[in-house]
Amino acid sequence: MKALILTGGFGTRLRPLSCTRPKILFPIVNKPLLQWTLERLAKNNVNEAIMAVNYQTEVAIKQHRIPRHGLHVTYSRDPLRKPLGTGGPIKKAEKRIGHDSHFLVLNGDIFADVNYTEILRTHQKKDAVATIALHRVEDPSRYGVAELAKDSRIKRFIEKAPRETAPSDLINAGVYALSPEIFKYIPKGRAVSIEYEVFPKLAEEGVLYGYAYDDLWRDIGKPEDYLEINRTLINSAITQPRCRIGKDTKLNEPTAFDKQVSVGRESVIGPHVVLGQNVTVGNNVHIQDSVILSGTAVSDFASIDGAIIGEGVYIGENTKIGRGCIIGDHAKIKDNTVLTERVSICPAKEISESVLTSKCIT
Ligand code: GTP
Repeated sequence: MKALILTGGFGTRLRPLSCTRPKILFPIVNKPLLQWTLERLAKNNVNEAIMAVNYQTEVAIKQHRIPRHGLHVTYSRDPLRKPLGTGGPIKKAEKRIGHDSHFLVLNGDIFADVNYTEILRTHQKKDAVATIALHRVEDPSRYGVAELAKDSRIKRFIEKAPRETAPSDLINAGVYALSPEIFKYIPKGRAVSIEYEVFPKLAEEGVLYGYAYDDLWRDIGKPEDYLEINRTLINSAITQPRCRIGKDTKLNEPTAFDKQVSVGRESVIGPHVVLGQNVTVGNNVHIQDSVILSGTAVSDFASIDGAIIGEGVYIGENTKIGRGCIIGDHAKIKDNTVLTERVSICPAKEISESVLTSKCIT
């Protein structure tokens, strides 16, 4: 069984953190999203993962040396400076996928506990060309919802319908089971949106089906969603040994620390704090509801609440970083600086003055 994983997007909504890493390599509770995905594929008897990449993503994934869990991992690269969208990479990988059997396509920026074996079984039973995993959400108005016929056939998707008038609460979860006939529907050599160009055609022909499921689903495309998935999974995380926690420091669980984290004296960490490998936190520091990536140093008397801090960042003494702030890799926030809500700092930037309005410092 083969799965194609779409990973060649630009992640514009997660800038500036996505300037230095593709979304598929964002750590979720200290484990890259790709690793979570490969583990789930291997458990569901998939034996080959084809990564639909661009040049930069391919290099980044190879550098990371993610455990493969027995999967054969290959790469299908979009042409240089010609991103193929969400449908074009499927056509590009046609030879690699072959025409012998059904296959899976996954949006790489989604954390979805889909039972892949089940969706493929449903797909085969219906003799569909495409079967879309549909996730039930409380408020569908942010998404496109599926209008279904009685036999789970998808009639159409309706974008951002208000909750009261939406035909269902089922949204496209970004996981598809496809038959080789799909290749006939995707034009060659150009960017194609599978959602807007291919699925409507299949719906019209009555060969598009839905597979509803209720387990965990999160898109990590936006900063608040990224924090949310960390919050959701932190409960099952195990704090690594070899962490040094200073005297009178309070850990408000849940927290998740990777290897070689050290926290000084009289600090308060948590709830919902993820600290990456080699993060060092000083004395009298307060951190809650935040994710801090590896190698970052947080100095004494700093306070961080509801923020995402990149890799190798330096946070000076007595700084205050507020809700929705995103600090790019290797940035330096000097002593006594306040960053209020929703301030983004580009990678490697030095900040020595407070920023009191929401903006991006480039
Ligand atoms: P935003 O710019 O923040 O919307 O991010 P995105 O374009 O990376 O994400 P989007 O939700 O639009 O894409 C869904 C999935 O398809 C993601 O896993 C992307 O990595 C992937 N993807 C999007 N565009 C391309 C592309 O041109 N080529 C390839 N190979 N994958 C793509």
